[in-house]
Amino acid sequence: MNSSRNSAAAPRPRHTGNLPRTDTDTDKSQLPAVRVAAAADLHLRPDPPRRFRNAFREAARHADMLLLGGDLTASGTVEQARMVAEDAGNLGIPVAAVLGNHDHDSRTGNKIIGVLADAGVQVLEGSGTVVTCRGVRVGIAGCKGYGGGFDGAVVHEHGEPQTRAFVRHSRDSAKRLAAALAALDCDVKVALTHYAPIPGTLRGEPRELYLMLGSQRLGQVIDEAGAALAIHGHAHRGVEKGVTAGGTPVRNVAYKVIGTAYHIYTLLPPEADHTRWQIVDHGQDRSDDGS
Ligand SMILES: [Fe+2]
Ligand SMILES: [Fe+2]
Repeated sequence: MNSSRNSAAAPRPRHTGNLPRTDTDTDKSQLPAVRVAAAADLHLRPDPPRRFRNAFREAARHADMLLLGGDLTASGTVEQARMVAEDAGNLGIPVAAVLGNHDHDSRTGNKIIGVLADAGVQVLEGSGTVVTCRGVRVGIAGCKGYGGGFDGAVVHEHGEPQTRAFVRHSRDSAKRLAAALAALDCDVKVALTHYAPIPGTLRGEPRELYLMLGSQRLGQVIDEAGAALAIHGHAHRGVEKGVTAGGTPVRNVAYKVIGTAYHIYTLLPPEADHTRWQIVDHGQDRSDDGS
């Protein structure tokens, strides 16, 4: 574990969206830092028996919460969901998750949500939760999201019904995330999706797949909400770090990308005359595959 509890000593990165604080903004500079552990694309299944219990227990000792960015199971069976519950449940810290496309494979979505809920893992879909950590109200808005594409390669709603349905699902996902972000009453907001909100963290994936890996609509609503951090998975061949057009740090925590069970990100409160929370990355923790 190379994260540090003394996060105040970490350097403050610069982001483009750090606006000067106005009279109507609350001064949050005296709030303590918050540590967020994040993981995605566990793809748990009985064979091979890769498990994350010990790693997540360690995360619980070093972080204030654990966020899971979908594809928690290999094919969405209840048996696999029980494995997720065993590994990520009852950790003693809040755990919030979104489902990924693989978690819908067996069409048992509600059953999976129930299994995870019984272990204290809150599944978000167009909804949010507020976790209070040492007096800091951290709002987490979650939505699986969907594809749709980026920049000059965005699918629009026209033509065949199948294309229109694809675009409607993409747009509706972004709207649900926007509503969940807007509803949060908190000091700092984190967006949690499975699909990518920016193309930057897809670097390494074939360009032809970008359409199915994420949507710029997600990035737009994350910026509009002023989220401090966006977590996603799904892009196994992508890269960890990116940033939205508005300056929000984005982290792709797919297991194959970060090469370990989870990463920890520290949210540092805004400097006295600014509004943007800062993100400190804590590098790779190689103590995965716990048991
Ligand atoms: Fe995945
Ligand atoms: Fe996925």
